[in-house]
Formats: sequence, structure tokens, C-alpha cells
Amino acid sequence: MRAIPPLLLFCLFLLLLPSIQMKKPGKGRGLKGARHKLTRDRARGPRRHSRSGPSGLVSPNCLESPESGHVFVDCQERRLSFIPTANTWSNKPKHLLLARNRIKVLHDGAFLGYENLDSLDLQQNQISLVEDGAFQGLTKLTTLLLQHNRLQTLSEEVLIPMPNLGYLRLYDNPWNCLCPIDSLVRTLQVPSNRNLGNHARCAKPIWLKNMKLKHVDPELLCKEPDLANNQQSNETGYTGALEPSSIRSKPDATTVCFTYHYPQIRMDCSNRGFTEVPSGIPDNVVHIDLSHNSISHLKARDFHAAKSLRTLNLSNNNMEHLDKGSLTGLLHLQELDLSNNNLTFVQHGVLEDLYFLLHLKLEGNLWVCDYSIQYMVYWLSLHPGVSPSGLVCYSPLEYAGESVEEYVKAYNRECPKQQSRPDQDQTDPKLWNTLMEAQAELEEEELEPSALRVPQKYQIIRLS
Ligand SMILES: *[C@@H]1O[C@H](CO)[C@@H](O)[C@H](O)[C@H]1NC(C)=O
Ligand SMILES: *[C@@H]1O[C@H](CO)[C@@H](O)[C@H](O)[C@H]1NC(C)=O
Ligand SMILES: *[C@@H]1O[C@H](CO)[C@@H](O)[C@H](O)[C@H]1NC(C)=O
Repeated sequence: MRAIPPLLLFCLFLLLLPSIQMKKPGKGRGLKGARHKLTRDRARGPRRHSRSGPSGLVSPNCLESPESGHVFVDCQERRLSFIPTANTWSNKPKHLLLARNRIKVLHDGAFLGYENLDSLDLQQNQISLVEDGAFQGLTKLTTLLLQHNRLQTLSEEVLIPMPNLGYLRLYDNPWNCLCPIDSLVRTLQVPSNRNLGNHARCAKPIWLKNMKLKHVDPELLCKEPDLANNQQSNETGYTGALEPSSIRSKPDATTVCFTYHYPQIRMDCSNRGFTEVPSGIPDNVVHIDLSHNSISHLKARDFHAAKSLRTLNLSNNNMEHLDKGSLTGLLHLQELDLSNNNLTFVQHGVLEDLYFLLHLKLEGNLWVCDYSIQYMVYWLSLHPGVSPSGLVCYSPLEYAGESVEEYVKAYNRECPKQQSRPDQDQTDPKLWNTLMEAQAELEEEELEPSALRVPQKYQIIRLS
């Protein structure tokens, strides 16, 4: 048989190409086709869209996936300047993520067809105008995120189509606190609306600058400037600037960090120039990234309220010390990243609340291989479920580069005399025994539902 020349084959292929493409499912398929596609997509899991949307706009490459049974559509950071129409998706989305795009205006009816939406994330766009009917049809919406935009004004009418709205984020917008937002402010201040518009502050006029919308006296919004100016200044001891609370106190996580709600609540606090852990970390945050700041030490109760945290990223700070009690309350923490800091040892007791820790990143620190490092090794020996990485001696020179575990083994073999160190009493073996007892007590207390608990088998290791 004569072989077909490759060039001819190629031409044949090119000729056939259009018909192959036409057979692809997609365009003009019927219900059956759609169902078929749906099951196929389910089997495949998340997938990217690259169809041409209506009105000639190329629809974005978004990720559409069922997350615990809820369809969510992730269109974050897609350079979008428009809202994709609802029929772009194969299922009716429950969560729509449009954060970090280039949307400037929300027109009337922008979300028609999205009637199943439970949450809508529009943060970090350039929205300066929301028309009164923009959210029409969103009767089931509970969460609306509009923080980090350019809104100066918003009519209360905008909220009327959303009777179930429980969470509304409006902070980091340059609110112009004048008569047009009078009705909005009144709505936000209704006591039952306690999660609507928290932390949003006036940017203008000057006499109300930095007042929270929650606290500003609505009477003042529609007054003549001079009169309002006088009254407010008499009330606040006019500084023309910050409310007292925001002058001295720690930075507030909710306003300074970016918060994402789906699939799980995540806060991005990296690169914010923090020198300490910000306050106001909400108790429902699951992941928090505090990397690339200048936090030099963790203080007791820094994460006290953050009960739901599973991931805590503290890498790339200048951390030298973790106070006792600084990690208390983190009962569900699974991943702790302490890499690239200046830690030399971990004080006795610091890790005791981390029952469910799985990953512990320790590389890039200045671990000192002497008596003080043994608490860490001891704790790890009691928590075999934890996989640590990067626990390597940095000093003294004779052990530099050696794994800490090896160092401790050798240390125990040789049973040397204790070297004195100022903090020696903190890691005294007698204290370790006390710690063991305390731990056993905690185990008995059943802090967690027993189904959640991992049985921990450990032996008592005497180090001296
Ligand atoms: C504000 O205080 C000044 C005196 O400090 C007083 O003359 C003025 O009437 C006060 N204004 C109002 C609106 O209470
Ligand atoms: C923590 O943040 C750093 C830097 O942003 C990143 O490289 C690292 O993967 C993060 N760690 C975890 C556990 O996600
Ligand atoms: C942390 O250690 C690095 C060198 O390992 C050093 O250059 C830096 O100054 C230290 N930072 C602090 C805050 O001590």
C-alpha cells in the first residue's frame, strides 16, 4: 500500500476541521444536549467556559463548579467590565464571584435571571453607580459584597428587591455623607440590620469625614453645611478627622484586609505593613493570610476570637517571639505557616491548643539547637499526626544544618549536663511532666465532639 504523503494528510485534516467543529455540542443544542452536557460536566467537575456570550461579548473564562451541592461561579480577576448574563451558565448559580474586575456601573436589571443567587461578591471593582433596579429579582440573596469600590452614594431603593439580605459590605468606598444617602443611612441604622454596612465611613464632607455610616446622625446629612458643621463639631469635639476609636487602636482586619466568602471565608491580609496582628478578625474566618508583614511577635489572645481558623499563614514576617497564649483558641487549626521568620525557639506551652494541626511549616528561621528547642520536639513527639517541615538547626555553628530531631536524639544519647540559659526554667523537665498531666486532663475534658477527635497515643519521654 502506498503511503499518503504527510502534506496531503495535513490538507485533508484542514478540510475536515470545520465539520469536526460543527459537531461539537454547544451551539443550538436542545434540552437533551444540555442534559447530556450537564452530566458530563458533573463528572468532570470544575470547568472553564469559553463560549461566546450574547450581545457579541465574549464571555469570560470562569470556573463553574458545585461546591457542597451549591453551584458557584468564580469569575474573579477576569478583567470583566460587564455582568455575564445568567444563561451563560449551565446551572443557575447560587454564588457568583465577580471580585477584582473592572465593573463600573450596575445597570437596572443587571442580575435578571440570577434569581437563585445566595451570595454576590462584587468587591474590588470600580463601581461608582448602582442604578435603583440593579438588584431586581435577587429575592433570595443573603450576602452582598460591595466593599473596595468607588461608591459615593446609594439609594435605599437599591436594597428593596432583596428582602433576605443579611450581610452587606460597603466599607472602603468614598461615601459622600449628604442628603442623597439619608434613607440608606437610616436603613443601616435599624437595629435588626446589624450586619448591613458595618465599617463603612464617610469620606466627605469634611466635617463628617471618617464617621461611620452606622453612627452618623441622619439629621445632619440634609442640613446646611454650616449648621451641621457646628452641631457635629460640638458633639465630637471637632477634630475634623478620625473617630477616637480609630486613632489609637490596632488596625482593624475587616477594613484593611480583603475578605472572600466562597467557597470558604478567607482573609487576605498579606503585604499590609502590619507590625502586629490586626484586631477584629471575625470568628467565622477559615483561612487567613498574614504573610509578608512586619509582625515581630505574637501576643496572648491575638487569635482568641478566630475560632474557625483552619489555615494561619504568618510566613515572611520578622517574628522573633510567640508569647504564651498567642495561639490559644485555635482548636481547629490544621495548617500553620511560620516559615521565613526570625524564630529561635518556641516557648513552653505555646502549641498546646493546636489539637488538630496537620501541617507546620518552620523553614527559614533561626532555630537554636540547645535545650530551649526541646519543647518543640517534645510537642511533636506527642502529636504524630503533625507533619513539620524545615525544623533545622541554624546555630550554634557545630549543629548548623542538622535536623533538630537528630540533634535532640544525639543529645538524649549523650545525656549532657544542662546548659544554662536565661529561659531554662521554662523548659525544665519537671514542667514537662506537669504539662503532660495538663494535657491528659484536657483530653479527658472532651473539648471536642468525640467523633472529631483523633486518638493520640504517646509515650512519656524523659529527657534527663
Ligand atoms: C457649639 O458650641 C458653641 C460654643 O462652643 C456655641 O456657641 C454654639 O451655639 C454650639 N452650636 C450648637 C449647634 O450647639
Ligand atoms: C503562605 O504565604 C506564602 C507567601 O505568600 C506562600 O508562599 C505560602 O505557600 C503560604 N502558606 C500556606 C500554608 O498557604
Ligand atoms: C531577622 O534575621 C535576618 C537575618 O537572618 C536579619 O537580617 C534581620 O535583621 C532580622 N530581623 C530582625 C527584626 O531582627
